[in-house]
Amino acid sequence: MLSAVIGRARRTARLAVGRVLMIMTTPLRLAARGLIAVRPGLEPRLAEHAWLWQPGWGRACHERLYRRPDPYGIGISEYEMAKYDLVVDVLEQIGAPRGRGRVLEVGCGEGLLSARLADYAAELVAVDISDAAVGRARIALADRPNVVVERRTLPLDMPAGSFDLVVCSDVLYYWEPRTFDRGLERLVESLRPGGRLVLLHYRGDFGQAGTGDAVHDAARRRALNDPELRHELSHTLRDAGPAGAGIRVDVLARATGLQTLRLPQQLHDSPAEARLRTTEVHTS
Ligand SMILES: C[S@@+](CC[C@H](N)C(=O)[O-])C[C@H]1O[C@@H](n2cnc3c(N)ncnc32)[C@H](O)[C@@H]1O
Repeated sequence: MLSAVIGRARRTARLAVGRVLMIMTTPLRLAARGLIAVRPGLEPRLAEHAWLWQPGWGRACHERLYRRPDPYGIGISEYEMAKYDLVVDVLEQIGAPRGRGRVLEVGCGEGLLSARLADYAAELVAVDISDAAVGRARIALADRPNVVVERRTLPLDMPAGSFDLVVCSDVLYYWEPRTFDRGLERLVESLRPGGRLVLLHYRGDFGQAGTGDAVHDAARRRALNDPELRHELSHTLRDAGPAGAGIRVDVLARATGLQTLRLPQQLHDSPAEARLRTTEVHTS
């Protein structure tokens, strides 16, 4: 009882602090964007000030979380494992080829999902904002020669080159709305012809700068308004994740040339989905 009250109070405080930080950093963010417009070379340096681009969830915050290994309890969480299985089910359904192509994973953490994604890549570039997470991911993935792990703050510090597959799992909701708009553009621009952008986000609000719904709604709009993009798959699990807030999955595909217009397909026969609905997850 007492722990539930404390939990609720902590959550309310976190949400309030997030909103205040977002408002307070707005003028600085505008100034930084102005600077970048005049001197684009400054962008990688300004990327380091992640607190501007994802207020309340900057680099220091993620480094603090990663002071201890596996801060999200991913390695011991049935829910997180089922979530990763869902990503793999999606890749299978869209026919992502195994062992081919160049793949980008945004926010790889300690590399647990990366180990699964590596099967779908000739080269996987796994990036994370946190030095500590990157260090552990490098150790965990040392036996996967097709994986490089890099410390980068996206979207301002994108890796060079283009990709056949970009996977963003529970990460884009840290970016405040304009950073996200710009970031979505960069991710879409980085897709090769026929390349896919796979998005999976929890729908709950835990004080992030954005929300899972905003991320996925914007991605859908982006696909609708661009003849070069196709909204290939769309799926909402309404009663999964912490507090049953739900999870959304969307896949955008860059046109290859000759393509017929189709409605996005639903995810079918995903065994992970049933597990995501029934697995108990801890909330704070
Ligand atoms: C909630 S965890 C999700 C980890 C993993 N993708 C998953 O789905 O389980 C978010 C991860 O994104 C990383 N991250 C947050 N902001 C980032 C940014 N701007 N650029 C790169 N990584 C970021 C964090 O350090 C953390 O490892």
